Amino acid sequence: AVRQDPYRPHVHYTPAANWINDPNGLVYFGGVYHLFYQYNPYASSHGHMHWGHAVSTDLVHWHEQDIALAEGEHQIFSGSAVVDWQNTSGLGDGTSPPLVACYTGHTSSNQAQYLASSQDGGTSWTLHPDAVLDRGKLDFRDPKVFWHAPTASWIMAVVHPVEREIELLRSTDLRAWTSLSIFGPAGATGGIWEVPDLFPVLDDAGHEHWVLKVDLNPGGPYGGSGVQYWLGDFDGQTFMPRTPAWWVDHGQDFYAAITWHDLPERRVWLSWMSNWQYAHHVPTAAAGWRGAMSLPREVGVRVDLDGPVLVQRPVPELQALRQAERPISAGITPFETDQAHEFLLRWPGSNSFRVQLEFRSEAGIEVSVEVTPREVAVRRPETAVTAGLTGYAGEHRAPLPPMEDHELRLFLDASSLEVFVGGGRAVLTDLLFPAQSIREVWCITEGLDHREAMGSLWPLSPTSE
Ligand code: FRU
Repeated sequence: AVRQDPYRPHVHYTPAANWINDPNGLVYFGGVYHLFYQYNPYASSHGHMHWGHAVSTDLVHWHEQDIALAEGEHQIFSGSAVVDWQNTSGLGDGTSPPLVACYTGHTSSNQAQYLASSQDGGTSWTLHPDAVLDRGKLDFRDPKVFWHAPTASWIMAVVHPVEREIELLRSTDLRAWTSLSIFGPAGATGGIWEVPDLFPVLDDAGHEHWVLKVDLNPGGPYGGSGVQYWLGDFDGQTFMPRTPAWWVDHGQDFYAAITWHDLPERRVWLSWMSNWQYAHHVPTAAAGWRGAMSLPREVGVRVDLDGPVLVQRPVPELQALRQAERPISAGITPFETDQAHEFLLRWPGSNSFRVQLEFRSEAGIEVSVEVTPREVAVRRPETAVTAGLTGYAGEHRAPLPPMEDHELRLFLDASSLEVFVGGGRAVLTDLLFPAQSIREVWCITEGLDHREAMGSLWPLSPTSE
């Protein structure tokens, strides 16, 4: 078969054409999940940034909409959106709550935070050209705004990239902002900081933990961009970390995640699935597009013997995409990559074992995943089409805490692999550009006694239109 657009994902969001990067303005309103994003409507490279727009009622099937915010005197860089239920901003028409977006207006000499509002559920937007927040700085961006009920105020986390600082500010009307505190430099500082988020999650015992996350570029675990987080407390003024900085994702291609605002019951985020190190060189531009979003993931905190850690799991809505289940045993299992697939393996923990999945095409191993008692590793070899991708070939590893039972859950979708081990304690996201279509998985195990199948694979129904 002719491979016309072999890297276009089947169950991940990507627009019909052109360049995307960060997700922006994730907000849930009236039963609709909104996904705005950095979008260049003219090319498959960064520039002329607009906010593109897609909507979904299940986080899985996305429908591309018209552009929400267009470049004008400035480009529309990253930011967030909220539902202003009480019309604190006065931007509403008094009948229904406005959606209010807070984004960075970018010119070659300035970055400042601006407001736009929508009265029709996010379709059309009115700009409010009075700058919300302008410090006359070249680098000052990515405002993430959320409602903080205990202090009855809006809180904004925004970065000073070069200084490696996250500034927290407070407002009662989304217009006038008072500075509260500065976090950083801290943790990894080998690159500029971008796209902060600050949000609470509950652990299994119902105890609240605040998560502060920030991306950096370069300085990630493998040299390109990466994302780190701290767990701690937020008293309405200052974030106080209780942990050192850890990586959110141990792969190469999870960047600029933000969480949905106003989601009841749970925390969900997704990210741009790429790395600034090679984003402009990924071999999809021939098919007219560059960039996709990760799967949406529920974010939680789990308290292990070692203390609290962030956990991420693909949203349960994805299970509705599963088609006929097939068993996976040690040995070779053929499948077709003209569809996305989910894999789930389970085995009892022990002090010495090895489980390896090798995804093979006619050209050989295109990517492999290995789990040993204290570590999971993804190996991504150079392929015939990745020569121009600096930093593509390599091994990406995540540590694992001691566990009684192991679970390896994995999504393979055309040009991406997302790996979740140990209930989402270790997560790796990696783009993938196979030379040939992957046709089979080799499951190799050592130190395990299994007469039965180790798990299952499911072809997934495509979600793209
Ligand atoms: C992160 C980022 C943001 C910026 C946007 C521009 O990937 O560099 O800091 O707002 O992308 O597209």
